[in-house]
Amino acid sequence: VSDGASASRNPWADRAQRVIPGGTSTGSKRPGVLYGSALAPDLPTHARRAYGCRLETADGCELIDLSMALGAVALGYADAEVTEAVAEAAAVGPVCGLPPLLELEVAERLTRVIPCAEQVRFLKSGAEATAAAVRLARAHTGRDHVIASGYFGWHDWSSTAPGVPAGVQADLTAVPFDDVDALQHAVATAGETLAAIIVEPLVHHVASPAWLSAARALCDAHGAVLIFDEVKTAFRVRTGGVQQLLGITPDLTTIGKAVANGYALAAVVGREPVMSAATRTWISSTLAAETTALAAARVVLDRHARLDVCHGLERIGAQLQQAVRDAIAPYALGLEVDGPAVMWRLTAERESVLDALVAECVRRGLLLKRGAYQFAALAHDETAVRAVHAIVSDAAAQLHDRAMNTLPEA
Ligand SMILES: Cc1ncc(COP(=O)(O)O)c(C=O)c1O
Repeated sequence: VSDGASASRNPWADRAQRVIPGGTSTGSKRPGVLYGSALAPDLPTHARRAYGCRLETADGCELIDLSMALGAVALGYADAEVTEAVAEAAAVGPVCGLPPLLELEVAERLTRVIPCAEQVRFLKSGAEATAAAVRLARAHTGRDHVIASGYFGWHDWSSTAPGVPAGVQADLTAVPFDDVDALQHAVATAGETLAAIIVEPLVHHVASPAWLSAARALCDAHGAVLIFDEVKTAFRVRTGGVQQLLGITPDLTTIGKAVANGYALAAVVGREPVMSAATRTWISSTLAAETTALAAARVVLDRHARLDVCHGLERIGAQLQQAVRDAIAPYALGLEVDGPAVMWRLTAERESVLDALVAECVRRGLLLKRGAYQFAALAHDETAVRAVHAIVSDAAAQLHDRAMNTLPEA
């Protein structure tokens, strides 16, 4: 996929390409990633504001958003209570020369809702949290090798991108999702050097209890640390993540995204014997405990205490899935809706069909995430669900007509 630099004549995209390599600092929001082969000058690349489940583009058009900022927002954009709490935190000074009481309060509350959490360290991004978790595991065990399954952010320890030293890459073995044999084989190969197994417990679907239990047993047998990366799944699948859903408890967990409804907060949480390695190694960041994001997280925690947010997301996600299934069903475009309702996918036999559908939907007022998850939010109301059905129906009908008109004559 191109980064959109050449294909787009959108003025905002062109300006962005000049000062920001790739056009934006978030990879999944690059024009070429948003629209793939359907990238065209009229498609929106920038937003002015976001509210509820909608955003306003740079050109003043309103879009219903199913990407929900890559899962960072589960209540809704600009949630009134979150915004008020953040403004209050900003007004009284979000940082000073002593750690804030709010760091302590939110840490205590996280230990009550995430099964493995006895202690907490705050950070600002999911990538930082997973890097910290791996650092803790290595410090705790005195070993180097990590077995990993999933996406953990951009940091060196988990990346094979240009610029990552070969020596760093040598300490990581990537294994496929939900494959017990591959995991056992990787553990046998790592032998005495194994520090940790880190897995995303949901990739397209929730991992099998057999795979996660095997990871738990292998870590126990080899004195290694089991880490669940619940950056996408905590405060979404269940408040306490997939570990709460399945009753399989890791030693460490990373959280981020929905925990602060779009504000910059992540954390590594876990059992005290492993977490306490933080006092022997070095994990620290100047703004890790600034209070605007912690205030947002406190509102999220309050909302989860008051309402069954995750079941709400499941109900709304199922409605969105059904709306899209019904809309595409008559047209035989080779499209499919699959995955858990709270974070589902629209997949296609031919990528170009999905690209074209995403482009036609955005022209009609709906932003779908191409090639990744559609994230449900409490703000996806009935009006939005009806609009999603109408827009996808109309877009699918147009693609179908286009395909019929380009069929060779019999
Ligand atoms: C499972 C998982 N871990 C880590 C990350 C990295 O988080 P961030 O982009 O906040 O650094 C992501 C981001 O998508 C993720 O989905």
